[in-house]
Amino acid sequence: MMKLWMAPLGLHIEPAEPIDAETLAELHARGFYRGWPREEFAAYIAAPDTPIYVACDAKRRIAGFAMLRLVADAAELITIAVDPKWRKKGVGLALMRALFEDLRMTPARQLFLEVAADNPAALKLYAKLGFAKVSERQGYYARADGLPATALVMARVLG
Ligand SMILES: CC(C)(COP(=O)(O)OP(=O)(O)OC[C@H]1O[C@@H](n2cnc3c(N)ncnc32)[C@H](O)[C@@H]1OP(=O)(O)O)[C@@H](O)C(=O)NCCC(=O)NCCS
Repeated sequence: MMKLWMAPLGLHIEPAEPIDAETLAELHARGFYRGWPREEFAAYIAAPDTPIYVACDAKRRIAGFAMLRLVADAAELITIAVDPKWRKKGVGLALMRALFEDLRMTPARQLFLEVAADNPAALKLYAKLGFAKVSERQGYYARADGLPATALVMARVLG
């Protein structure tokens, strides 16, 4: 059965396909200080334990994506990124809700993630979705100014 979820602004969410690797690498590079090469995305798209969800329009132009890693009865949000011109429009929330729904089909009962303490957009998104802080990793993320940022580990029970 084709997996498909609705998103705002006429977008929908569906699983990533091999052809998306280049676009995902570009989008990721726009959202993070450290990018991932296209080859890594191609490998993740092909692997069953790292599902990737893309938010796209009818022509399959991608506005954002999220990637999970499934490990036994837990899941980890590896990354989420929305194209700067599509931000603050509910795309990130829609991606997260789609993956919550999809996780109901897996044994995963908890979703973990790591977020930089200096990332207010992501912190707002996760707080809205009921994530709570589990622990902290000081000096975890490299930053352009040389001052590393603290990582917060957050988790949410899956319903
Ligand atoms: C984090 C990110 C994915 C959010 O995506 P988005 O589509 O803009 O998020 P949404 O529009 O669904 O917003 C979700 C909530 O967060 C809030 N929010 C989004 N961006 C915000 C910002 N820059 N500052 C404060 N709040 C923000 C929204 O207002 C919304 O809350 P509301 O409904 O109460 O208004 C996006 O900013 C992004 O791609 N950032 C770069 C990559 C990144 O940091 N990823 C997370 C790594 S852990």
